[in-house]
Parts: sequence; structure tokens; C-alpha cells
Amino acid sequence: MKKDTVTVVDSVSGRQIELPIKRPTQGPSVVDIGNFYRELGYFTYDPGFLATASCQSAITYIDGEQGILQYRGYPIEQLAAQSSFLEVTYMMLNGELPGAAQLDEFSDIINHHSMLNESLKSFFRGFYHDAHPMAIMVGVVGSLSAFYNDSTDISDPHHREIAAHRMIAKMPSIAAASFKHTIGEPQVYPDNSLSYTGNLLKMMFSVPCEEYVVDPVAERALDLIFILHIDHEQNASTSTVRLAGSSQANPFACIASGIAALWGPAHGGANEAVLNMLAEIGDVKNIPGFLARAKDKNDPFRLMGFGHRVYKNYDPRARIIRDMCHEVLDKLGDNNDPLFELALKLEEIALNDDYFVVRKLYPNVDFYSGLIYRALGIPSNMFTVMFAIARTVGWVAQWMEMIGEENQRIGRPRQLYVGAGQRDYVPMDKR
Ligand code: SDX
Repeated sequence: MKKDTVTVVDSVSGRQIELPIKRPTQGPSVVDIGNFYRELGYFTYDPGFLATASCQSAITYIDGEQGILQYRGYPIEQLAAQSSFLEVTYMMLNGELPGAAQLDEFSDIINHHSMLNESLKSFFRGFYHDAHPMAIMVGVVGSLSAFYNDSTDISDPHHREIAAHRMIAKMPSIAAASFKHTIGEPQVYPDNSLSYTGNLLKMMFSVPCEEYVVDPVAERALDLIFILHIDHEQNASTSTVRLAGSSQANPFACIASGIAALWGPAHGGANEAVLNMLAEIGDVKNIPGFLARAKDKNDPFRLMGFGHRVYKNYDPRARIIRDMCHEVLDKLGDNNDPLFELALKLEEIALNDDYFVVRKLYPNVDFYSGLIYRALGIPSNMFTVMFAIARTVGWVAQWMEMIGEENQRIGRPRQLYVGAGQRDYVPMDKR
């Protein structure tokens, strides 16, 4: 039987080639263009990778038209309603949901990797007092191979597993220490008797001079938001981690590259930008002016928290967080948060505006998440740090999948060169 192929005819040379089609378990098939340059002499061209699959993966599936997100085949709505962050983390790393004993053992492993090497403390002190916590986090994570160089041999599966556990376990401690540095308070050690998110809240908000009791509403809200942020297929930061990993850089350096990419306001930095935008809008009467700016091609302003490269429907994570907002704000007593009311009004107006409807621009995960972080007392400069903690699981899982591949190769895209043709050097006295 004729293999599934796509026929390409080059009208310039008249040459014709057959490109094999690779079939997925879900979603679009792909055309394998591995021989395209060798057979036709052309590179393919797709800036921003709008129609390019960079790899194959079994971790996360997204259907942008239907607004579907699945981790290892499980719908995000079911995981959000029934699972926990550490249980989903185990599943992302191992491919299957854990049994009770496996989850207990995994939780214990993560707990016992949550402390930071004590000499890292002086590293935090080296940052200026008003450094952005993301600047601290990207610097500290990038340095971890200097403190944990006994788990950086990527050819050793045991090293890879320890580095993965260390990364996931230490991100809350690094995040909290970054936050404490910026507010001039002492770092707080992890407390192994607490949950992953309970520990984070205590390390962020407890002080040595009084008891701290974790608020179960805040603990569960953070656990749920973290589940929603764990992974998202080959987004910009995950693709950055994969590309860094393809050069066989150590795992800590790869995760640091992901944190750097996530920080951009077009990506994970959007949650902080949404809060700043809502504060700038200030009142419902100002919404039309900001929407006009968002549509103006001469104005760099974009409606933060709206639009998505893949979702041309409501981001399923935004829907879950939006519903959660009401519940959390009610329970935390902020149910008349003016910014939440403003966000709801902005969404209602934008979703009925032709410019957004025609372009299928819907609220994304970042549109509402900041409102919950704010209700939990987390300052806006820590919102992307929160995103990075959760996304570290996806980055690590995708890195492990890539490093574990049989014929893993360095990623090295080509280009369409539009610069000067060859020319001779001109001595200074002749210029
Ligand atoms: C995340 O990839 C992921 O999966 C990311 C993420 C994850 O979990 O990893 O989901 C997390 O990053 C969510 C996105 C957070 N970013 C923002 O909220 C920033 C605001 N959004 C935009 O910057 C934008 O929508 C992007 C970056 C998210 C997507 O950009 P694309 O896919 O390159 O879309 P585009 O820029 O080509 O826009 C298509 C059209 C353009 O207008 P036209 O040229 O067709 O006239 O839509 C317009 C854009 O100008 N547009 C917007 C807009 N987003 C797109 N116009 C106003 N406001 C916006 N927010």
C-alpha cells in the first residue's frame, strides 16, 4: 500500500518529491521534511513556528480550536477538580498516575530536597534590594550546577532523576528566598510537615517572631493554579529548555533558560502585566480607550491576558481560574475586589468587540491568575515567579523526554539570509 505521503513539485526545477506523513495519537498529522533540503535544495521557512512541529512528545496535548488541554491524556478539568499538584507532577514525570504508596514516597523525596545549600544564602544577599524576584530566580537557578554538581551527568539516568527532583523541590525555596530578599526579611527554611504549596506560603509569609498557620483556602487555591500551569506543549519557554538541553547543557542551566524566556510579557510575564494594565485602566469608563489602543497598529499596547498562539477558543485554564476567582475571593473576603469586577467587565466588552471576535482573541491563563495571587497577598512582581515554580515540572518532564530519546541531536535551525553579498574590507583611509 502506498505510504502516506505529501507530494511536493518544484515548479522551478520540475523536480517532485514525496514527503512522509507521520500520524499522531491525537491532533494534526505532520509532514516529515527531513529530506526537503537534501532533495530540493530549499530550507522551509516558518518564523515564529506557527505551523512547525519541533519534536514529538507524549506529555501534553492541546486542541486550540476546541479549547482542549490534556496532561498525559487526562483532561485538565478532571485533574483540576480531583488531583493535586504533586500527584500530577509524578504523572508528568513518570507517565502514569501514582498509587498511594508511590505518591507518598514521591512526596517524601520532594520534601527532602526542598532545602537550599546554605552557601546559597550569600548569593541572595548579593542582589540589590529592589531586584525583580525573577532576576534573582534566573540567576540563582543558573548557578545551581555550582552547588549540586553531583547530579549534572545527563548521560546517567540516576543523575537526571535527582536533578529533576532537586529542581522541582527547590523552586519554592528559591522563590520564597527571592521574595524575602526583596522585602528585607530573613529566609525561612522549608517545613517538611507541610504540603508543597503550604510550605511555599509559609516560606514566603512567616516571620521568626510569630506563629504562622497556613490558610487551607490559599493552600488549595495555589495547588490548583499550579496544576493549571504545569505544562503547555512546545510554548516559548519549553522550546527554549529543549533547545538548551539539545546542546547537552546541565539541567539547571536549561531550566534557567526557560525561566528567562518565561519572563517576557508576551509569555509568562503577562500575569504581572495584566494586573498593571487593570490598575492603569482603573475604571470601566476607561475601557473603550484602552481597547482602541489595543487595536491601533501604531500603538505597541496589547490587551494583556488576551490572545494565544494556539487557543482560538477560550483557554480552558482561564475558564477554570475565572470560576475559581469568585470562590477564592468570597472565601478570602475580597469578593468585591474592584479589579476583579473591572476584569469581568473588560472581558465582556472585548468578547463582544469585532476586532477580538474576528481574531479569536480570548482571555488566556494569565488574565485571571494574577487576581487570585493578589487575593493571596502575593505581590505582582512575584506572579511570574509563581508561574515558573509550576512550569518547572513541565520543563523538567519535557527535558527528560528529549534527553531520553534514542537519536537525540542538537537543535540548529537555519535561516533565510537577506544581508549584504560578499564584499572586500575597506581600509579606514578609504571609507
Ligand atoms: C502564555 O504558548 C503558550 O502556550 C503560552 C502559555 C503557556 O502556558 O506556556 O499559554 C502562556 O504565554 C499565554 C499568553 C500570555 N501573553 C499575553 O497575554 C500577552 C498578550 N497577547 C499577545 O501578545 C498575543 O496574543 C500572543 C503573544 C499571546 C500570541 O501572539 P501571536 O500568536 O503571535 O498572535 P499575533 O501577534 O500574530 O496576533 C494575531 C493578531 C494581530 O493582529 P493583525 O496583525 O492580525 O491585525 O491579533 C492581534 C495582533 O495584533 N493580537 C492582539 C492581541 N493578541 C493578538 N491585539 C490586541 N491585544 C492582544 N492581546
